[in-house]
Amino acid sequence: MTEHPHVIQHTTTWIGVALAGAGLALGQEQDLPPRPVAIVDEGYVGSSSCRSCHRGNHASWQASYHRSMTQVASASAILAPFEGVTPALEGTAWRLERDSGEFFVTPLQATGGEKLAERSRVVLTTGSHHYQIYWLEDRGSGMEQLPLIWHRDEGEWVPRKSMFVTPPSPYSGEETGRWQRTCIKCHATNGTQEHPEQGGARVAEFGISCESCHGPGEAHVTFHGDGERSDTLEPGAADPTIVNPKRLSHQRSAEICGQCHGIHPLPKEERKFWQHQGFGYRPGQVLSESRHLLRGTYEKNGKVMQAFLRRHPDTLQDHFWSDGEVRLAGREYNGLIESPCFQRGELSCISCHDLHRSRQDPRNTTAWADDQLAPGMDGPKACLQCHEDYRDPVRWSTHTHHAPDSTGSNCLNCHMPYTSYGLTRAIRSHTVTTPSVANALKAEKPLACNLCHLDRSLGWSADHLAQWYDHERPELNTDLEEVAASVLWALRGNAGLRALSAWALGWPAARQISGTGWMPYLFSTLLMDPYDAVRWTASQSHRRNPGFASFRLDFTQHIEEQRNRVREEVLSEWLRTGLDAQDDQRRAVLVRPDGTLDEERFRRIYAQRDRTPISLQE
Ligand code: HEC
Ligand code: HEC
Ligand code: HEC
Ligand code: HEC
Ligand code: HEC
Ligand code: HEC
Ligand code: HEC
Ligand code: HEC
Repeated sequence: MTEHPHVIQHTTTWIGVALAGAGLALGQEQDLPPRPVAIVDEGYVGSSSCRSCHRGNHASWQASYHRSMTQVASASAILAPFEGVTPALEGTAWRLERDSGEFFVTPLQATGGEKLAERSRVVLTTGSHHYQIYWLEDRGSGMEQLPLIWHRDEGEWVPRKSMFVTPPSPYSGEETGRWQRTCIKCHATNGTQEHPEQGGARVAEFGISCESCHGPGEAHVTFHGDGERSDTLEPGAADPTIVNPKRLSHQRSAEICGQCHGIHPLPKEERKFWQHQGFGYRPGQVLSESRHLLRGTYEKNGKVMQAFLRRHPDTLQDHFWSDGEVRLAGREYNGLIESPCFQRGELSCISCHDLHRSRQDPRNTTAWADDQLAPGMDGPKACLQCHEDYRDPVRWSTHTHHAPDSTGSNCLNCHMPYTSYGLTRAIRSHTVTTPSVANALKAEKPLACNLCHLDRSLGWSADHLAQWYDHERPELNTDLEEVAASVLWALRGNAGLRALSAWALGWPAARQISGTGWMPYLFSTLLMDPYDAVRWTASQSHRRNPGFASFRLDFTQHIEEQRNRVREEVLSEWLRTGLDAQDDQRRAVLVRPDGTLDEERFRRIYAQRDRTPISLQE
């Protein structure tokens, strides 16, 4: 059996009953490639069947990163140059080759170049926006993952493990076999881990295709293919043969995205069923009838998830702040549903996101694809579309207490702050909340005000929140009163807080209002952090400092070598130039009037560092 191009047609109406015996044919494993395969059945027909009638929708999807999330390895899919470099990690170097349109890697001894094993074919890719992961042919225990990934923005190979907030550890090979155990759930269309007929993993389509969001399309294609539509459908009426998320309630619509942008652990009892049948959920259905969403606090979960949490007690802290707000990027559905605007209003993902670029969108396709937001929805318009009373400029700035055109007046900066982390950067929380010092303290999460006012203490924010919004002012200890919140996160916070502060130090809005002359000692501390992801995020932010635009840490090097570079380049530079802070900032940012660091306080705070191991389960 062959694939055309990467799809095995296995449907009744689409190509007739020619494959009635397909179950048998599929059983002949020797004909199948050493990787998961794409088979269209169960009513799925594949995106290429939609193109002839929906060219515009097909084109915008084609340009989206959903489409290229998972691809069969090919010259057009693979972003990394497979020549000219031999990336190495922990004693193993990887020789990369292209050979008659295929891609191969051979593990070598890093010193000496002796071959460690035969070459393996690259069979599948994951990702295409920020970075790309390469999967090597399945030799029986599942596909192996190349431990180095291609970082698209950096244009270099980096260790995969450096991209995650997880306690430092050597490469373990634990990713082998994980594609079909884990990634298949969210990175492909209608995936099944072990198909009863075919044995290995199979999907309806690699990547997130039309039918992930619109449901299986066979009936729809047949319907319109037969030209029946005009007789039976009123103009503008819903088409009963396909799902249009826009016509669903906000809950049903958001659940479509929530399949993948949400946290749904599989209890042991249900995993077996999933392994062989895949997920039963189809767009338009009630997601909670077939999946269990993990909510952020123990009490909010039903019986099944509470039982799951008793067996996996760390799960909540690996995904949520202690107040139950999700802290990870990519899990926006969990964020959305805890928002008042969703619970008491009709906020949905498509209130702000356009999954197909609209014709009115002034941006080019690449700019739209970056976050698939509707025009203007990265600013106040996202809120003003419903909260119309705030459109009045006086009402607006009376509410925000900032100048109308200030970054401090953008609703999102206070109500959807950058407290979620993933893919080595912060993204906006998708839970609409209001800034409150009491809540921030209790959940040990950053307060929106201090993510922008990096030079101010929590006490300073508490004063203004009390004055402006009548908040009750909580009791704070001396450090919280006096020391800038960002300094406390960076020096004594746990790895999750350090990662967020490393990001905030590079946020242009924050740099503009907070000044940057006092920051060098925070950079040099974060650039020597034991967690790779913290160092990575800090190095990205550090490039905004004058003279460091091309600053890079080599994450394939031993951490001591990286630290030496930071000492030579960063530390020595700021010791030479000194620190620069305004009079009213100095105390909070630990800078003495002569431009030196208040070392005593620095050491005392640093000594309190929370070293609890943190693993953010993106
Ligand atoms: C033979 C032509 C044809 C093909 C092939 C086709 N469609 Fe359609 N589709 C239509 C027509 C006609 C409409 C109604 C157009 C309108 O809204 O006026 C429609 C409407 C839709 C709608 C909107 C339904 C609504 O209720 O608003 C969606 C979503 C959709 N199609 C998705 C798909 C997907 C996904 C595929 C591929 C699996 C596909 N279509 C293949 C002809 C086709
Ligand atoms: C629960 C659903 C889910 C699972 C399971 C999952 N991912 Fe993802 N993944 C996502 C979402 C959603 C994003 C987009 C996050 C964002 O843009 O912030 C993403 C993004 C990524 C990216 C970045 C892609 C790019 O183009 O830059 C990579 C790489 C990735 N995932 C790899 C994996 C791998 C490898 C696995 C399996 C071990 C996996 N993911 C499992 C949902 C999932
Ligand atoms: C990640 C989810 C997602 C994917 C993938 C996706 N769509 Fe859509 N599609 C939507 C949503 C949401 C809407 C309705 C709201 C909107 O326009 O953004 C929509 C609307 C449509 C419509 C109705 C007309 C319109 O533009 O409003 C058609 C037709 C359609 N999609 C076809 C397709 C086809 C064909 C593909 C694949 C080539 C595809 N979609 C892939 C989410 C998706
Ligand atoms: C079948 C799983 C799946 C479904 C359904 C899905 N997504 Fe995604 N989404 C992903 C994955 C995986 C990524 C990461 C793609 C990448 O960046 O390469 C992603 C990326 C995104 C991105 C960021 C694009 C980027 O690369 O920066 C946005 C925004 C997004 N999805 C919104 C939505 C919305 C809104 C819906 C529902 C209408 C939706 N998604 C449905 C899995 C899914
Ligand atoms: C109130 C508006 C709003 C709603 C509702 C909303 N988003 Fe977003 N979303 C945004 C904004 C603004 C950003 C850009 C955030 C940033 O710059 O970090 C974003 C970013 C994202 C990203 C990261 C994109 C990237 O560039 O990597 C993903 C993924 C995403 N949203 C998915 C969703 C999903 C899924 C839903 C529904 C569960 C949703 N969003 C609901 C406004 C919204
Ligand atoms: C789709 C419409 C919609 C959008 C978009 C929307 N909201 Fe809401 N929001 C509502 C509704 C409806 C309520 C509930 C109001 C009530 O109960 O009186 C609400 C409630 C709130 C509340 C809580 C009010 C209270 O008294 O507890 C806040 C705060 C809020 N929204 C802020 C925002 C911000 C900030 C944005 C933009 C990020 C936003 N909303 C976007 C509809 C929306
Ligand atoms: C500087 C920070 C800040 C900005 C910017 C901001 N808000 Fe608020 N907002 C708050 C705080 C703080 C509260 C809580 C007030 C309280 O506790 O009574 C709040 C409360 C709200 C509420 C619920 C109470 C009410 O008045 O109904 C809504 C709705 C709201 N904001 C919408 C918006 C919208 C829309 C924007 C943008 C036009 C915006 N906010 C910009 C800080 C901000
Ligand atoms: C995204 C950035 C941003 C956020 C978030 C933000 N501000 Fe501001 N803030 C500014 C800017 C910029 C100014 C300069 C004056 C202006 O634009 O109005 C400012 C000025 C101020 C000032 C007056 C100047 C000073 O330093 O004394 C105070 C007080 C203040 N902000 C408090 C707050 C509080 C409290 C919050 C949270 C409720 C907050 N800000 C949230 C950006 C921000």
